[in-house]
Amino acid sequence: MRRGFFRDSIVLVSGATGTGKTLMVTEFMAGGIRKEERCLLLAFEESREQLFRNAHGWGVDFEAMEREGSLRVVCQYPEAISLEDALIRIKQLIRDHRPDRVAVDSLSALERVSSIKGFREFVIGLTSFIKHQDIAGLLTSTSATLMGGASVTEAHISTVTDSIILLRYVEINGEMRRGIAVLKMRGSRHDKDIREFSIDGAGMHVGRPFRNVVGILAGNPTQIPLGEIERVSDLFQRE
Ligand SMILES: Nc1ncnc2c1ncn2[C@@H]1O[C@H](COP(=O)(O)OP(=O)(O)O)[C@@H](O)[C@H]1O
Ligand SMILES: [Mg+2]
Repeated sequence: MRRGFFRDSIVLVSGATGTGKTLMVTEFMAGGIRKEERCLLLAFEESREQLFRNAHGWGVDFEAMEREGSLRVVCQYPEAISLEDALIRIKQLIRDHRPDRVAVDSLSALERVSSIKGFREFVIGLTSFIKHQDIAGLLTSTSATLMGGASVTEAHISTVTDSIILLRYVEINGEMRRGIAVLKMRGSRHDKDIREFSIDGAGMHVGRPFRNVVGILAGNPTQIPLGEIERVSDLFQRE
């Protein structure tokens, strides 16, 4: 299995609020900086202070990275700008900073201030520009419901992305856990499991696949009782 992202490929990270989208963006940027790549983060949901505080909580020092020059973080309230102007500004930022990686967190914040047509034109304009510049892109999208299910907008966005990472809350025995799955990955083999992950002061840790659980992606995880499986296998053994 090939790990990581390709250049000129675009990944969409989709999940409800608090599932870890900004954390993925933070790790995408930090991973680029570690490889001495130039990174541009366009944030439309959080203030600079909040973004830097969160990154610090995951062990990532955005301030030092910006001082060093390879990272540029631009925070903008979407209400303050039209999507046409936003696209022009983003293209200019890309020309000025010449990043190898660009992250947009989140598209949903931009969607709220636009018509469906305007938003779709923005997404197509942005993704085709990123691809032509040989840049790896990470876009986030906030699912409306807490437990899952992709929105119509996400269906639109997904047609222009190369892969989709789903972040989901998974409720098992009344306990909230976190799941991650990769939906499609053009030109590479990938892990088809839904894996459990955890978040701590060092970031994201991907663990083992969920077993005996179905319906996670649809948003209604159901545990297959182990007892039933054992009874079924007992039946086979008797035959
Ligand atoms: N240092 C930390 N240790 C453990 N969990 C944390 C830490 N910092 C943030 N979190 C949790 O990480 C989760 C993901 O946050 P975030 O990436 O901002 O979500 P999203 O962008 O999807 O709304 C949140 O549920 C938050 O409570
Ligand atoms: Mg976020």
